[in-house]
Amino acid sequence: MLASKHILLIIGGGIAAFKSLDLIRRLRERGAIVTPVLTQAGEEFVTPLSVSALAGQKVFQHLFDLNDESEMGHIELSRAADLIVVAPATADLMAKMAAGLANDLASTLLLATDKRVLVAPAMNVRMWEHPATQRNIATLERDGILMVGPNEGDMACGEYGPGRMSEPLEIVAEIDAALAEGPLKGKHVLVTSGPTHEPIDPVRYIANRSSGAQGTAIARALLALGAEVTFVTGPADVPPPMGVKTVEIQTASEMEAAVAAALPADAAVFAAAVADWHVTNAGDSKIKKDTDGLPQLTFGENPDILAGVSAMKKGRPGLVVGFAAETDDVIENATKKRIRKGCDWIVANDVSPATGIMGGSENAVTLITGQGAETWPRMGKDAVAAALAKKISEAIS
Ligand code: C5P
Repeated sequence: MLASKHILLIIGGGIAAFKSLDLIRRLRERGAIVTPVLTQAGEEFVTPLSVSALAGQKVFQHLFDLNDESEMGHIELSRAADLIVVAPATADLMAKMAAGLANDLASTLLLATDKRVLVAPAMNVRMWEHPATQRNIATLERDGILMVGPNEGDMACGEYGPGRMSEPLEIVAEIDAALAEGPLKGKHVLVTSGPTHEPIDPVRYIANRSSGAQGTAIARALLALGAEVTFVTGPADVPPPMGVKTVEIQTASEMEAAVAAALPADAAVFAAAVADWHVTNAGDSKIKKDTDGLPQLTFGENPDILAGVSAMKKGRPGLVVGFAAETDDVIENATKKRIRKGCDWIVANDVSPATGIMGGSENAVTLITGQGAETWPRMGKDAVAAALAKKISEAIS
């Protein structure tokens, strides 16, 4: 599995760094090519000589090492790997990752990469439990960073609790899983997400409420199954996942063009909350409250992107999935919508304010297919995404 895979291993400054020497051995035993990076703090715990001797190649340490830059720049270094592993990932290194800082080689590589990143946190239990660290962990998880551990147990500092770095073989197992070729390998899946903004004038717009959380989670879940994902997103509250091809748009007509440009696709998931109308007499300059009086807006219908793609005669994706956010008679309305839109599946959900689903972290959906309706238990948006991605992979692979 790991044979000939390139792993960029960033060793942070923690007592657990000694385990990373063993990790290098375990990875190389399995045929992986390990390029080591040692932070300045990491150097206090393990020597560059032991790291490079075990890795069988030079260890990269400094951002402004001209030699390295002429041989391989930091951008290239961050992208040449199949996976980046940070072990130990200290509280400081993860805080830098969460904040997007790039003030040394390790943090710059982590910010510049387009590859997946696995972190193995290691720190004192109080540091792990600190709200700042937990906030950073939540941010990293939202960014799609993979995580292994930490384990609970006796710590080098004499305390007990979570904070011990996972054992080398546990990290190897996660690396294996991260590099496994999923059932959607070779499949291109298009996902739309977030709201669209339809301008009234340069400073005002109309839009639907949408955080983009569910669409983002779906893109990430498809990616985890090995799909190549094009993610067409309006202005969402959550950042797009790493590792997908993101196309940012504002309006429905821009989304329609981006979708057309992204085809062909093996499957398309339309999770965006597209505005139904745009303002046909949108102002080029700001409408003045004092002098222009009440604006007389006129509306035009937006293209129905889902219906358009569903009706394609040539080049229609093999599976077209729409969403139906309803507040009443969810299953009945969504069943009709599936027929009206011409899509294969509809993921229906009840977005009545009482459900707390809109903008929340959970979702309760019913999947409507040609075979009928299947109601899933209420669960996290990530779990809904994983279940949907699995269904999609069963349908198209
Ligand atoms: O008609 P309604 O907006 O309820 O349909 C929702 C579904 O249709 C979603 O999948 C949404 O992404 C898609 N849609 C679209 N283009 C529109 C409106 C909705 O693709 N203009």
